[in-house]
Amino acid sequence: MKLFYLALSVFCLPLALQAQISSNVAFDRQTRAIISAGNIDAGKSKAVSMKCNKCHAENGQGDEDVSVAGHPSTYLYKQLQDFKDKKRSGIMVKKVKKLNQQDMADLSVWYASLPFAAGMEKGGDVAKTLVYKGYPKRMIKPCSTCHGQNGEGGKYDSPALTGQDRDSFIEMMEAFKTGERTNDVYSRMRLIAQPLTTEEIQAVADYYSAAGTAE
Ligand code: HEC
Ligand code: HEC
Repeated sequence: MKLFYLALSVFCLPLALQAQISSNVAFDRQTRAIISAGNIDAGKSKAVSMKCNKCHAENGQGDEDVSVAGHPSTYLYKQLQDFKDKKRSGIMVKKVKKLNQQDMADLSVWYASLPFAAGMEKGGDVAKTLVYKGYPKRMIKPCSTCHGQNGEGGKYDSPALTGQDRDSFIEMMEAFKTGERTNDVYSRMRLIAQPLTTEEIQAVADYYSAAGTAE
């Protein structure tokens, strides 16, 4: 009998892992109330006192790191909570440990209030097709349906893409592609990234990445 349960648990473990939910954040009334109680000025000073600026720079666009400027506040809040819940891995997991709900709301509305850098719109036809048309036969929806016509981000949890650091952009696409990053609810980004080729990922990265960093 013991052996049976052992076999059963070995069999079920991968299933249990797969069934793990991608995020604990739902944009219900309570969560939206927490985020709208965020204070931009408080966020601005917390970004200094909590040393977020060290990596993300004063303008949120970062020097080399990922840009946190100009995303929807709901997206930023979700990312911070996801790091806290270890739904995303990496250096940020440590950085959010001491943040409470109010800190996260303040920092989210602060970074959301900052403008994102203009993109270069490079990447040629490969990028344009992916951004505006997608490939219905390959089940790839256009990026613009969720991330906006100008890469400005969408509702709630769809981040802005325009002005993102090129290397960070590629890293994030690879992380969704390989399943290292799984905090996208309903696998929306994993399903997009998986079928993309390296060339296609580089093309959309060129398209959206910040002026000055794209080559
Ligand atoms: C030591 C450098 C460092 C510090 C300090 C830091 N961050 Fe980050 N942050 C990163 C990196 C790098 C990423 C990209 C994710 C990754 O590679 O793990 C990131 C990602 C993020 C993201 C998600 C952005 C996205 O679009 O995916 C948010 C939001 C964020 N940081 C906010 C903050 C806040 C708020 C603070 C201060 C409490 C902070 N960070 C402090 C390095 C840092
Ligand atoms: C069906 C909606 C949808 C489509 C289509 C889509 N995305 Fe996304 N994307 C999302 C969502 C939602 C997230 C945020 C997931 C999370 O962390 O909660 C995201 C996150 C991202 C990120 C990470 C940004 C960051 O700051 O961490 C990148 C990069 C990205 N998408 C690129 C693309 C590209 C390029 C395309 C087109 C080839 C695309 N997306 C198409 C919904 C979509």
